[in-house]
Amino acid sequence: MKVIGINGSPNAKGNTYQAMRMVFEELEKENIETEIIQIGNKPIRSCIGCGKCYTDTGFCSAFKDDGLNEAIEKIREADGILLGSPVHFSGITGAMKSFCDRLVYIAGNAEDLLFHKVGAAVTAVRRTGGSSALNIMHKYLQYCEMMVATSNYWGVIHGRSAGEVQQDEEGKQIMRILGKNMVWQLKMREQGLAYAPAKEKKVRTDFIR
Ligand SMILES: Cc1cc2nc3c(=O)[nH]c(=O)nc-3n(C[C@H](O)[C@H](O)[C@H](O)COP(=O)(O)O)c2cc1C
Repeated sequence: MKVIGINGSPNAKGNTYQAMRMVFEELEKENIETEIIQIGNKPIRSCIGCGKCYTDTGFCSAFKDDGLNEAIEKIREADGILLGSPVHFSGITGAMKSFCDRLVYIAGNAEDLLFHKVGAAVTAVRRTGGSSALNIMHKYLQYCEMMVATSNYWGVIHGRSAGEVQQDEEGKQIMRILGKNMVWQLKMREQGLAYAPAKEKKVRTDFIR
């Protein structure tokens, strides 16, 4: 089994990365492969709503050169995803928002991307805004009908400069438990795929007619 991490931080080895590693250490103990893709230092285009992913399903044909499609290929092969972002102005980073908007729009028409896989999210924050950033990431996971992993508190860890999160003992426990619960859900999913309901075609009402 494999889980892909998407790191929305501009800092390759910053607090978000370190929090994601705490989660992934628990997966690796159970021989689950992990890989972190850093997108937070890249110019990721935001979704322009062209709708091409409704016909050219499974990838973004509007912008092919900013790394999204390469990440999609890895996510497609994986059993789960871990979203990680530092808090920027009480939300997620711009790169993370652009990446997830496009990924999840595409995933809505491509069952093999995120649907019924295991998903989790973590955020690193100096002081305030962790819950709202986490909430945004959870919305993407929920939209894709993922098995969302939880911990004994919300997936927020505190620190400002890179490495300060290592002093947050409660945050470290949150990440550890999140990892353990992810392992459990990944194993349950593997055992239970035969019972998974089929994806229903989406009913769309725009409330204008
Ligand atoms: C542009 C920007 C906006 C930020 N906004 C917030 C904020 O709203 N609340 C907060 O507590 N920390 C804020 N921070 C601090 C970061 O969330 C914190 O330093 C975090 O640990 C950085 O994680 P990283 O090392 O993975 O980048 C902000 C930092 C930057 C660069």
